[in-house]
Amino acid sequence: MIDAIGRPQSVLVLGGSSEIAQAIVAKLVPTRCKTVILAGRDGPRLLAAAEAAAQAGADTIETVDFDATDIAQHAPVVDRLFEQFGDIDVVVVAAGVLGDQSSDEHDPLAAAQVITTNFTGPASAMLAVADRLRHQGHGRLVVLSSVAGERARKANFIYGSSKSGLDAFAQGLGDSLEGSGVRVMIVRPGFVVGRMTEGMDPAPFATTPDAVADAVMKGLASGAGVVYTPPVLRWVFLVMKHLPRGIWRRMPG
Ligand SMILES: NC(=O)c1ccc[n+]([C@@H]2O[C@H](COP(=O)([O-])OP(=O)(O)OC[C@H]3O[C@@H](n4cnc5c(N)ncnc54)[C@H](OP(=O)(O)O)[C@@H]3O)[C@@H](O)[C@H]2O)c1
Repeated sequence: MIDAIGRPQSVLVLGGSSEIAQAIVAKLVPTRCKTVILAGRDGPRLLAAAEAAAQAGADTIETVDFDATDIAQHAPVVDRLFEQFGDIDVVVVAAGVLGDQSSDEHDPLAAAQVITTNFTGPASAMLAVADRLRHQGHGRLVVLSSVAGERARKANFIYGSSKSGLDAFAQGLGDSLEGSGVRVMIVRPGFVVGRMTEGMDPAPFATTPDAVADAVMKGLASGAGVVYTPPVLRWVFLVMKHLPRGIWRRMPG
């Protein structure tokens, strides 16, 4: 339950081992968010994230199996967690994969797996979460989208289109929750230096998980609906979106 001065006391992360989500949890916990539920694929990374939450000062930490591609399990897992914990104040949707566009564009199954992990799966989980948040009458759904979803490039249109879908879905869901006490915050980071982008040359305006987490904390405090991180990307992509297609097509990988 959100405390008397509006601070969340519990967070559920879908994609609990995400580096960005871990940075968010590390900033939420010291603000009295002592209950941390990490839903993810079971494994050492999820356990390490739970350990990091404990180090940050969380006093109740739960890990639970969650696979974004196992859609039939989403509603039962979400329902069980809300029944176990009562109110959950913040839900972070972090599960995602970059894929390897150069091979995935010749491998329909691999491409569909990226799209399911980034869009179809999170969409299903978000509906299950939204029902529970609507019922409790408050809560924040933080959706890790990407500027890659603003306009798909030929070099990453599989990932980019999956984020476009996720982003549009989150916008519509947010509008449908208007007046319910529940708010959706869409986060659009640029290139984040970390595990997902390991070995890649940083794009202009590259950022870090810690900086994304700062932007999320600021957005939660201000009630933002959309957060670009770094903020300059809002204006960069406003221009990018309107570039003539012939120029956009020549954008480097
Ligand atoms: N890094 C960037 O440059 C960047 C930029 C913009 C947006 N984003 C988005 O931010 C989110 C977090 O990314 P990150 O940078 O924190 O990368 P990350 O550390 O690689 O986190 C990705 C998370 O997704 C989880 N995941 C992958 N497939 C899954 C599945 N089938 N079911 C459940 N969980 C699954 C991973 O779990 P495992 O540990 O089990 O693999 C991991 O927890 C992603 O949605 C990403 O698209 C990232």
